[in-house]
Amino acid sequence: MTGEVPPPPAPTQPSERRPPSRRARAQKRVAVLHNNDFLDVPPELDPAWSSRAEVAVVAASVATALTEVGHEAHLIPVDGDLPGLRTRLAELEPDCAFNLCESLAGDARLESSVPLVLELLGIPFTGSPPEVLSFALRKDRVKQRLEASGIPTPAARVMSHPDDPCDLTFPVIVKPVREDGSVGITRESVVHRPEDLPDAVRTLTTRFRQPCLVEEFVDGRELNVAMLGHPAPRVLPLSEIDFSGLPEGTPRIVSYDAKWTSGSVDDLGTVPVLHPTLPSAVAARVRRVAADAFRAVGVRDYGRVDVRLSATGVPFVVDVNPNCDLSPHAGMARAAAGVGIDYTSLCGLLVRYALRRRRDAGAADVATAAAR
Ligand SMILES: Nc1ncnc2c1ncn2[C@@H]1O[C@H](COP(=O)(O)OP(=O)(O)O)[C@@H](O)[C@H]1O
Ligand SMILES: [Mg+2]
Repeated sequence: MTGEVPPPPAPTQPSERRPPSRRARAQKRVAVLHNNDFLDVPPELDPAWSSRAEVAVVAASVATALTEVGHEAHLIPVDGDLPGLRTRLAELEPDCAFNLCESLAGDARLESSVPLVLELLGIPFTGSPPEVLSFALRKDRVKQRLEASGIPTPAARVMSHPDDPCDLTFPVIVKPVREDGSVGITRESVVHRPEDLPDAVRTLTTRFRQPCLVEEFVDGRELNVAMLGHPAPRVLPLSEIDFSGLPEGTPRIVSYDAKWTSGSVDDLGTVPVLHPTLPSAVAARVRRVAADAFRAVGVRDYGRVDVRLSATGVPFVVDVNPNCDLSPHAGMARAAAGVGIDYTSLCGLLVRYALRRRRDAGAADVATAAAR
């Protein structure tokens, strides 16, 4: 230190200005992040293997779509090496990340660590924030939130042991308390007699090493409500699962096989139908209840709410899915296409939402600094 105050830098003359930075251009550098934990275990040892493996395929579709809209897409498989991910992202300097991570090391609970790293690095990302992903994974907590918000949802109990008490009205459905994507849902999940419940609970708790959510079974039509936007979501056209192709005596549910085993009996018997015929008052109620559930859980940008209709037309929310399946053939993309948003535009729109957050955060910083 010499004690001398250096002269202020001369203002930059227009001719000396640097060319517009990459960030100012329309083309953005997008890191497309997806889990690759399906590589670590053989399919027969992981009951959620197909759903994990599918994410890599979706990531490739998203990257292609982003390239089509003029972005620079970089596929980044994510494993448990989070310092490695940090380094990779620091090298890449993406404008935003497209977060498709559903699990790490075969554990869905760890999915939220990826957006946490992105927040740490200040990289805006698509979809819901980490705390919402963690929250939504706990079916029991989501149910409490829905109940507290006055949103109809079937009565349920958490059972950790086969002999835990259960005072519900049968039939019931037994699901792992912290999985999604129909993981752990089979024909045996629907239990008609109280004396059969302990076995169903034992099977599931042993296989998934977690408690079960036992829920009253709503034996009615199933509707999927996809939504886009935040905080006020745009409700996309409704879709219904047509169960008429399922063999006689099979429960009318979307099982794991229905979702992930292409060509299986359950897959062929559960056909999604856009624009189902419904009394308009019922359709309006379904849309309202689903949008309320989306907001109550804090879902951001995109998501899907699954609803079952009771015999009297009451829509019961059974599932709220932030960062739902973005495969070009899944419900989200089909519903968006129903309002003229094709897959490429959908992926581009989700990137715009993420980039807008960076802009908004920047504007907030400027406003805070100005107010000081
Ligand atoms: N209470 C219920 N009544 C009737 N069917 C249900 C109920 N809960 C779940 N299901 C069926 O099981 C499927 C998967 O359950 P869901 O709660 O959506 O789990 P996940 O989060 O794994 O997708 C649903 O799509 C639906 O077909
Ligand atoms: Mg579901």
